[in-house]
Amino acid sequence: DKVIAVDQILSEFRLNKEDLKEIMKRMQREMERGLRLETHEEASVKMLPTYVCSTPEGSEVGDFLALDLGGTNFRVMLVKVGEDEERSFKVETKNQMYSIPEDAMTGTAEMLFDYIAECMSDFLDKHHIKHKKLPLGFTFSFPVRHEDIDKGILLNWTKGFKASGAEGNNVVGLLRDAIKRRGDFEMDVVAMVNDTVATMISCYYEDRSCEVGMIVGTGCNACYMEEMRTVELVEGEEGRMCVNTEWGAFGDNGELEDFRLEYDRVVDEASINPGQQLYEKLISGKYMGELVRLVMMKLVNEDLLFNGEASELLKTRGSFETRYVSQVESDTGDRKQIYNILSSLGVLPSELDCDIVRLVCESVSTRSAHMCATGLAGVINLMRERRSEEAMKITVGIDGSVYKLHPCFRDRFHKVVRDLTPHSDITFIQSEEGSGRGAALISAVACKMATNLF
Ligand code: BG6
Ligand code: GLC
Repeated sequence: DKVIAVDQILSEFRLNKEDLKEIMKRMQREMERGLRLETHEEASVKMLPTYVCSTPEGSEVGDFLALDLGGTNFRVMLVKVGEDEERSFKVETKNQMYSIPEDAMTGTAEMLFDYIAECMSDFLDKHHIKHKKLPLGFTFSFPVRHEDIDKGILLNWTKGFKASGAEGNNVVGLLRDAIKRRGDFEMDVVAMVNDTVATMISCYYEDRSCEVGMIVGTGCNACYMEEMRTVELVEGEEGRMCVNTEWGAFGDNGELEDFRLEYDRVVDEASINPGQQLYEKLISGKYMGELVRLVMMKLVNEDLLFNGEASELLKTRGSFETRYVSQVESDTGDRKQIYNILSSLGVLPSELDCDIVRLVCESVSTRSAHMCATGLAGVINLMRERRSEEAMKITVGIDGSVYKLHPCFRDRFHKVVRDLTPHSDITFIQSEEGSGRGAALISAVACKMATNLF
């Protein structure tokens, strides 16, 4: 009957242990290829050096400005970095959110960076600090090929950004130019970091075993501390450097073709960057709600849901938001929450309809958690191989709306990561205000290193 037919359609989303191991193995192979000079160009997982190293020289104290661009919200923050006996601590003092207008995201780079500078100017005015030339840490959550901690070119936009004239250019330069064009304040940009890196660093100050950072939000990505000698793109053999994996692009060379479903292909083809970030598109919040909607539409067309009829709204791309997936799965069993969401989308669901929609959400979000777990398990197993430790103890710092807000993502994710990493002892910690604190702390270290030169 109906339920069996529905289950058959949803069963495609299930990954068994063999599938998970296979995906992890392919991911690890791409990571190794990304690290190696010979294969780096063609590898889908870019393994980008960040110039954030394991041997900090101590840090500067004082006020830092932090920018956070690339997640759900664009933020400007003022962070105070202080010191106690052995380690830096940080107190976030002020934080303001700004929304990025669509035309700034998809217009020209000048428009985008002028808007960013305008927000900074507004923030400095509000807090009466426009006269100060503060050091700035910039969390810029896109793939950047760094030449140094404060210099790197944007390889390609992801997550729906498309401002022209930015790809291939030095991002810090674009920001400095925009600040200069305004001319009403000065800023000393000392560091640019990925959000995964900022997250890892912010957690590192609480837990010195934190050597991995991960985001599952609008996008999905991870970074980790890699042995310098295996980071072939950078000279030097000693110590460790943080590598931004940019694993969201895994699959872009066809490594996931046997796992991608018809819905994944529709999502990809309708996106701003078809053929790119294919792993991310199976996982992250930018795409999860739309995947659920497409599966619901399939069930409607097979006459298995809503009496075979969808509302205009439900037929509209993007109408089923990712936060609804969390809300549906948070329903306590009385179906009220599910009913309300569906009726707000113009359908009048039966009890069975509500239950089926819940199953659809669970299928999509569980696959997301399991797919994402293969990536992290790949990273952790790679680290363990390098360190040739019997049992490795490691902490992972995590941020992002899917990880933090979905009611079951976390547990499903942790379970599979642990299943796939039998010889590691993993602690997961959530980062709070990670990007602001992380960017400020890295800037504080970067400032100190600069002054040490003299
Ligand atoms: C935020 C971090 O908390 O999480 C950002 O400050 C990061 O740097 C973001 O990009 C990721 O989550 P989301 O859900 O906003 O994309
Ligand atoms: C995308 C970006 C990556 C970022 C991630 C999470 O994958 O390319 O740089 O870390 O989203 O925000």
